[in-house]
Amino acid sequence: MANIYIPYGTVEGQTAQIAEYMADLIRVHGHQAETADLKHSGDTLPEGYDGVIVAASVHVGKHERHVTDFVKKNRGELERLPSALVSVSMAAHGDEEHAEGYVQKFEEDTGWRPKHVGLFAGALLYTHYGFIKKHLMKKIAKDKGSPDTDTSRDYVYTEWDGVRRFTEDYLAWLAKPAGPE
Ligand SMILES: Cc1cc2nc3c(=O)[nH]c(=O)nc-3n(C[C@H](O)[C@H](O)[C@H](O)COP(=O)(O)O)c2cc1C
Repeated sequence: MANIYIPYGTVEGQTAQIAEYMADLIRVHGHQAETADLKHSGDTLPEGYDGVIVAASVHVGKHERHVTDFVKKNRGELERLPSALVSVSMAAHGDEEHAEGYVQKFEEDTGWRPKHVGLFAGALLYTHYGFIKKHLMKKIAKDKGSPDTDTSRDYVYTEWDGVRRFTEDYLAWLAKPAGPE
């Protein structure tokens, strides 16, 4: 049985949901998993874990600063353990090039080159946004030609099947004997 740590950064909560979904799935597969919101849990990677999945969301072109700091501080351990990165953005919903660009930037900033990277679409949570954010996000959606501009509702683009496949592939990788991939 493996014990997996899932530290994450989130602003509006979608990445937290993705992290909890992955943790639940890992437990269903008979392993242990613990999530940690890096905004509150500090930047120490606790001992005793067999693998790490770092998750972060993109705002104005960047992942959360506290996730970048966590990765910089714990890069050695992340390179030693089987670890993966999950990047949550709107770009992952049909604009792969930009979604990959955010990850490339994150890798340049942190020096960490995760072997497994999941790009997942996030959500437009209009009903949770304040006045300015709501109108800003509506304008961005409109400018991109998206029909999803009804601010009286939310739009969730996360493909949970893709999150499930990524998590199960990660577990399969973890179960393999160490060696070249
Ligand atoms: C103010 C704001 C700025 C955003 N900027 C970007 C961006 O630059 N690129 C992108 O792909 N998505 C962007 N998004 C979309 C978020 O990545 C998406 O809403 C995601 O679900 C947020 O995850 P979280 O709820 O875990 O914070 C932005 C969202 C907001 C609210």
